[in-house]
Amino acid sequence: MKMTIILKLVFLIIMAKNPALANETILKDFEALAKSSDAKFIKFNISAGEKIFRTERIHSKGDKISCMTCHTPDPKKTGLTRANKVIEPIAPVVNPERFTDMIKVNKWFKRNCNDVLERECTIQEKGDFIAYMMSVK
Ligand code: HEC
Repeated sequence: MKMTIILKLVFLIIMAKNPALANETILKDFEALAKSSDAKFIKFNISAGEKIFRTERIHSKGDKISCMTCHTPDPKKTGLTRANKVIEPIAPVVNPERFTDMIKVNKWFKRNCNDVLERECTIQEKGDFIAYMMSVK
């Protein structure tokens, strides 16, 4: 009896200390969302996610913009906002806090997709992007 309580506690501590598990959970949550909103959904696509990250477009205001504008072409590097504030790396391999909080993830997808694409990202695009970032080694 005492042993199972200790085991549970150890498990809880590991969960709390291991954000890798948390971002896998978030990817699964997006997968469930994708499945429930699109009957044809199969899985997220790492190369499509990389394309979202790397595609440059001309914003209607005239500037060239992409996710790399702030997050740099290397997801493992520290980025900069337009106001020159540091953005910690977006790749979980160097920044395990990434993609561990659904509210934060959705808040920034909303803001950044609107900034870059001038529209919100779809669930498929969000999942592809996260899958790509989690594949960066
Ligand atoms: C104008 C600058 C800027 C651009 C362009 C930008 N981002 Fe970001 N991004 C930020 C900032 C600032 C944060 C929040 C600060 C932080 O978390 O370090 C952030 C955080 C995020 C997060 C939160 C991740 C997490 O769990 O912590 C996601 C997701 C994200 N960006 C996706 C994107 C995508 C997708 C694009 C391209 C479509 C993009 N960003 C382009 C500035 C930018």
